[in-house]
Amino acid sequence: MRRVLTIIGLVLGAQAVGGFLFAWSGLYSIAASKEHLPPVTWFFGMAMRSSIETHAAFVGDPPDLDDPALIRRGAGHYEDGCAPCHGAPDVGRNPISRHMLPAPPFLPGHAGDWTDKQLYWITYNGIKYAGMPAWPAQARDDEPWAVAAFLRRLDGMSAEEYRRLAFGETAPDGDRSALSDLAMLDGSAREVLDNCARCHGYDGAGGGTAAFPRLSGQNAAYLFHALRAYAEGGRHSGIMQPVAAGLDESILRTLADHYAGQTAPYPPPPADADPALLELGARLAESGDRDTGVPACSGCHGEDRDPRYPRLDGQHASYIADQLRLWQRDAHGDTPLSRIMGAAVRNLTEEQIRALSLHYAQSRPRETADN
Ligand code: HEC
Ligand code: HEC
Ligand code: HEC
Repeated sequence: MRRVLTIIGLVLGAQAVGGFLFAWSGLYSIAASKEHLPPVTWFFGMAMRSSIETHAAFVGDPPDLDDPALIRRGAGHYEDGCAPCHGAPDVGRNPISRHMLPAPPFLPGHAGDWTDKQLYWITYNGIKYAGMPAWPAQARDDEPWAVAAFLRRLDGMSAEEYRRLAFGETAPDGDRSALSDLAMLDGSAREVLDNCARCHGYDGAGGGTAAFPRLSGQNAAYLFHALRAYAEGGRHSGIMQPVAAGLDESILRTLADHYAGQTAPYPPPPADADPALLELGARLAESGDRDTGVPACSGCHGEDRDPRYPRLDGQHASYIADQLRLWQRDAHGDTPLSRIMGAAVRNLTEEQIRALSLHYAQSRPRETADN
């Protein structure tokens, strides 16, 4: 028995040394220009699929992936972050990505091979040794669900549907209030704004859906600080950070001023809101909650407060609630302004979060109370 074990040990050892010498000799070609041998391709494919299946089994339950806002947000990001490698219904894969090995598959025909949780897991974690990147803001484990919701729709999507979802209503004539302002922007700022408008619209209303926060009429100083925080990595978002990175301060200021100057109509207030919840929200906003040490929001958020503090009136309820939850799990960001806010809302309960977001979503700033 001992002899058999020794022989097996020697054979394995010799194989390891042989493998090492083969790699060290440089004879194995890592050229992406040549396919692997079929058994090697099979082996890597099998290992990748098994790893994804096993790990995705531990992913928590998805949010409602039929939510149109989630799908629209995911589509906006797909165009920037995935289409350059995986292609889109309106353009095929680009010739450079087709020469990667493994080549990123044309996803509009492949996403259906995976379950919701697997699509989420791949988007959040990426695939090692394949060139498939992980989510750019690892603190934001909520965001890849938007991409998964979009991927769920992608198989067989028409080019028109794709353009509507990923580019929004980008024709500036749709947004009358933005027109005069646009004429004053210089060429480079206008080009950047064209990209912002895919998601936020030229008027900062984001097409009126809760897919994107309302920027129209927000304080310019707040918008500027938020953009700079994304650009420098101090505020976490795998969607906004790549968009803002690399833009210089003067462009960020121009964009902030542009959106602050807009007066897009407000979306209709949330339908059939529970009156008791609304009343709780109004009370908390005005006076806070002494028992749990939550301060009055109105002490910092209001028309004549520090302009680096955002206005909340008319903001989408789901966006407000999501942001409050981010602070509660330390995932919003790491800037002095973000820390001020985090300390204020740490002790909110889930019911209080729902009440406050509903309250602010249906409030209007004083000067536009009749809007
Ligand atoms: C730099 C190029 C690149 C980018 C950008 C990229 N991927 Fe990938 N992706 C790949 C590669 C390479 C693979 C691996 C293919 C393989 O091993 O078969 C892959 C695999 C996948 C798969 C598994 C597909 C299959 O059926 O094999 C999914 C799903 C996926 N990517 C989604 C995304 C999403 C969503 C994004 C954007 C958030 C994205 N990818 C961004 C390169 C990229
Ligand atoms: C792919 C879609 C997309 C594009 C393009 C985009 N945004 Fe955003 N933006 C978002 C999403 C989603 C959020 C919410 C992110 C979060 O949760 O932090 C956001 C948040 C913001 C915020 C923070 C708002 C607040 O109330 O805190 C600002 C400011 C902003 N975007 C400005 C811009 C500007 C300016 C551009 C162009 C340079 C731009 N965005 C391009 C999707 C987009
Ligand atoms: C001590 C001052 C202070 C108090 C009190 C405060 N906030 Fe804030 N709030 C801030 C600051 C500062 C920011 C901007 C954070 C940043 O830029 O990262 C902010 C941001 C926010 C945002 C993000 C808005 C957006 O557009 O992304 C929400 C939502 C919010 N606060 C809700 C509340 C609620 C609800 C309360 C009351 C329970 C509250 N805040 C109390 C200072 C405060």
